[in-house]
Amino acid sequence: MAEIAPSILAADFARLGAEVEDVLAAGADLIHFDVMDNHYVPNLSVGPLVLSALRRHGIEAPIDVHLMVKPVDRIIGEFIEAGACAVAIHPEASEHPHRSLALIREGGAEAGLALNPGTPISVLEPLLGSTDYVLMMSVNPGFGGQSFLPGSLERTRAVRRLLDESGHSKVGVAIDGGIKVDNIGKAAAAGADTFIAGSAIFGVPEEAPSRRDDYRRVVAAMRDEIGRHVEGGA
Ligand code: DX5
Ligand code: ZN
Repeated sequence: MAEIAPSILAADFARLGAEVEDVLAAGADLIHFDVMDNHYVPNLSVGPLVLSALRRHGIEAPIDVHLMVKPVDRIIGEFIEAGACAVAIHPEASEHPHRSLALIREGGAEAGLALNPGTPISVLEPLLGSTDYVLMMSVNPGFGGQSFLPGSLERTRAVRRLLDESGHSKVGVAIDGGIKVDNIGKAAAAGADTFIAGSAIFGVPEEAPSRRDDYRRVVAAMRDEIGRHVEGGA
């Protein structure tokens, strides 16, 4: 099943609890939580305190944490304790990616491997048995609102093929960066099953009486597009 994961990076941080409630009520399946450290990527976002605040606020939906943080191992447990269901790491940000993925699983969360647009797909091969999902970056990490890099479709197809042909068909493929209503169908056709979108959802123009209805309009349009490109996909 296709899952839509709004990235909180594009939300109104002053109203974060309400923003997350609104996108979930609008039909989002999970919440994508981008963590940037001003070292591995040139931007600074939020840490585990904000994640636990969302849980305390009453958010029960799955939250996947995308760690753009170097070094990464020490902080993994803090995010799981704060309420992450899934945690993705970048192999370039870890001295020992195999160990980082194992730490995530030992903490009881799903382990994701994030592949930048310039990272060879072969990096995944020795880590196949340690990875629950691949996070295909369709922009260079660090900022929301960037344009989708078209080469990401071919890379997504190649990763999906590698997973299926190596006996890891249960491993998911999420795509992250520049996902909009007009390209989400192609990403689905390329084999992505989880679609992360920040600015396309939280940045939608205000038209309805409530933000919740604005978000519902985009999420529904995204599902329609996925359904048009993949049979039984949405
Ligand atoms: C980029 C982040 C993405 C980003 C998505 O470093 O990992 O999750 O926030 O935002 P949009 O959809 O605006 O590209
Ligand atoms: Zn992300």
